[in-house]
Amino acid sequence: MKIGVFGGAFDPIHNGHLHLAREFARRLSLDKVLLIPTSLPPHKPHAYMAPPQLRLMMCRLAVGEDGLFEVSDIEIRREGASFTADTLNEVLKIYPGAKLFLITGADMFLTLGTWNRFEEIARLATLCAAPRGDGDSQRLKSYAKTLEQRGAKCVIEDIPLMDVSSTAIREKILAGESIDRLVPAPIEEYIKKFGLYKTAPGGPGYSDSQFIEIIRGRLSPKRFKHSLAVAEQAKRLATLYGADPKKAYTAGILHDIMKDAGAEAQLQIIGDFGIILDNVEKNLPGCWHAIAGAVFIEHILGITDRDLINAVRYHTTGRAGMSPLEVTIYLADFTSADRDFPGADEMRRLAETGIRPAMKYGLSFVLRELIDKSSVIHPDSIHAYNETVLAGGEGGAENAEEQKKN
Ligand SMILES: [Fe+2]
Ligand SMILES: [Fe+2]
Repeated sequence: MKIGVFGGAFDPIHNGHLHLAREFARRLSLDKVLLIPTSLPPHKPHAYMAPPQLRLMMCRLAVGEDGLFEVSDIEIRREGASFTADTLNEVLKIYPGAKLFLITGADMFLTLGTWNRFEEIARLATLCAAPRGDGDSQRLKSYAKTLEQRGAKCVIEDIPLMDVSSTAIREKILAGESIDRLVPAPIEEYIKKFGLYKTAPGGPGYSDSQFIEIIRGRLSPKRFKHSLAVAEQAKRLATLYGADPKKAYTAGILHDIMKDAGAEAQLQIIGDFGIILDNVEKNLPGCWHAIAGAVFIEHILGITDRDLINAVRYHTTGRAGMSPLEVTIYLADFTSADRDFPGADEMRRLAETGIRPAMKYGLSFVLRELIDKSSVIHPDSIHAYNETVLAGGEGGAENAEEQKKN
């Protein structure tokens, strides 16, 4: 069996990658090409990179049902930097006796001799590359000779390359230009759906004004206004509840980030990151945007603060043992200036008086609504409710009942 091994960041995978792989497969009669996204960008890291799971998912979408390709997560599962020699050995474990062809871009090929355990790589695979432009061909061929003197087998194929790169694609997305024809259609859709590459590089250090721009592009005008109002209210309540007002403001901006993405996108991102919904959660669509939102801010925006992620995660259900920040966002979502449900004013008053009465009131209100709708109730909400009752919160269910009658 002849197997092409094509590794890369694939950030994102594009038609140029697929073309290169297909051409090598055709010219070298390969039975299969393994696409192996790296977990870290080995050579050219850039500040904003799509998380490994999404790059993997895009590779899967890009090849679709094409039997030539197999997308492998061996490097992503390994985490951290991977050595090509290890990857090739692992491929051989899966396909014993296979003949391997390592497919590289021109730039990569020209550094191969310096790679960790080059001799082992050269023993395990034939090294393949295609020139990027006319001048390249000679350079690649003479470099190939040097590598061959060190025991490598090399194949340089003059494959007409498509003028497309992941960097150019990311730049186009940032500039709001179309990437039509540069990537397979499902990839374009996927990138749009998750708003990938849409934000300027910032890594974990986005500012609130950048976050505001991010949600502006993802939410309806009404929800956008709501989010800003929640952020303001969260900043105020945070000082009362002993949470960090700055963090509360950020969490307020982000809490509904996936709300308008639609059920399909919410469930997809939840599934893509390996979260399995239990039966109650599956039947509680109202909590999907919170779970999806937590995944989004952690994996796509690169937020690492667990408390902030949890504040988004539990803003619809609540849970027992909520942190001051979680409570702040839960109650700010209820009491932001744009809220006008029956009882909103009472809830605002209670929110000023303390956490317990406000939580009891809010949870009673939500539980009642769910029961009225014959909806399932998330156990986290019941635990949160029991906790406030056992702690002797005041101004709870009775008031909620009264307010509803009014
Ligand atoms: Fe929400
Ligand atoms: Fe909200």
